[in-house]
Amino acid sequence: MSPLDGSPHVVSGSGAGVNEVPLLQVEDLSVRFGAVTAVSSVSFSVSKGEVFGVVGESGAGKSATARGIIGLLPSTARIGGSVRFKGEELIGASRTRLRRARGSEIGYVFQDALTALDPVRTIGAQLVEVLQVHRSVRKKEALEAAAELLAELQIADPARTLNAYPHQLSGGMRQRAVIAAALIADPELIIADEVTSALDVTVQRKVLDLLLGVCAARGAGVIMITHDLGVVAQTCDRVAVLYGGIVAEQADVYSLFDRPMHPYTGALLQSMPRIGDTSEFKPIPGSAIQIFGDLRFCPFAERCARAGADCRRAVPPESTRGNTVFRCFHPLDVPQ
Ligand SMILES: Nc1ncnc2c1ncn2[C@@H]1O[C@H](COP(=O)(O)OP(=O)(O)OP(=O)(O)O)[C@@H](O)[C@H]1O
Ligand SMILES: [Mg+2]
Repeated sequence: MSPLDGSPHVVSGSGAGVNEVPLLQVEDLSVRFGAVTAVSSVSFSVSKGEVFGVVGESGAGKSATARGIIGLLPSTARIGGSVRFKGEELIGASRTRLRRARGSEIGYVFQDALTALDPVRTIGAQLVEVLQVHRSVRKKEALEAAAELLAELQIADPARTLNAYPHQLSGGMRQRAVIAAALIADPELIIADEVTSALDVTVQRKVLDLLLGVCAARGAGVIMITHDLGVVAQTCDRVAVLYGGIVAEQADVYSLFDRPMHPYTGALLQSMPRIGDTSEFKPIPGSAIQIFGDLRFCPFAERCARAGADCRRAVPPESTRGNTVFRCFHPLDVPQ
């Protein structure tokens, strides 16, 4: 499934087909926390059945983007732009509408998911509650649905797990219970925010495969948020690379890995350890940026070897090469 090992994964050049309303269309999204601008002018779309990656370093604006999509930002945050789910605008929608969307239409696996479970209630009670908020089902049916989903997530003894408290489960099992809570009401879009980063490397891949397997079986779209390009390579169809709250580059995974355009993408790829590659591992020099007020320059300029005075004077507009859209005045395909 990886562009690194050459085996094919579903690839489409753009989110939806001609005349097809995408499952999710994000346009010009911005999120501010007081003076801090977490997200500026982010646009992308996700189709049914597609796995869309959002990748970037800590502080890039990944979670703020995801929380903005489902209206889960603190009341002090300011959000702008447009988020349409199956054509319906969610920005400015009522709290009731957004509450209904969360869980039953858009499932969200939080970045700090392992602490999201209530420690004093059984997994079964928590899953039943999620389902009953969205569907009029009796407790017995809800428990049956929960057991079926846990079995689908390859939990060996679903009945026992349903009766267990979170602390009685291993990290990998707890993460599967959290994923089950996001999936149980059968949402059409799943936002998975760093779902495996708290897990042991050996179980990370397994949990990702299980999550994506269930989503694929249901034809759900997935937004896979990660700081790990390896996860992107293994799981995503298309990807947006975030830096300083903007989409630095967006492409299908093959184009991104074969022909990165943005120097930040290039640097991320070089900082990625690869099996069998003995060349030096190159961390990106400098540290991530925090943006205050309106963004008026390329956020990567201060860490970029290719940056010129133009990069410090304006945000680069979107440029296109094939399936790739990027914001850079000095892309990697132009010799310097
Ligand atoms: N509630 C908040 N109040 C103030 N600033 C915030 C808040 N949440 C996020 N930020 C700021 O917004 C920016 C983007 O944060 P965000 O959490 O979206 O990053 P991220 O890409 O998800 O990072 P990580 O990989 O660490 O999860 C950062 O500069 C962060 O400090
Ligand atoms: Mg985050």
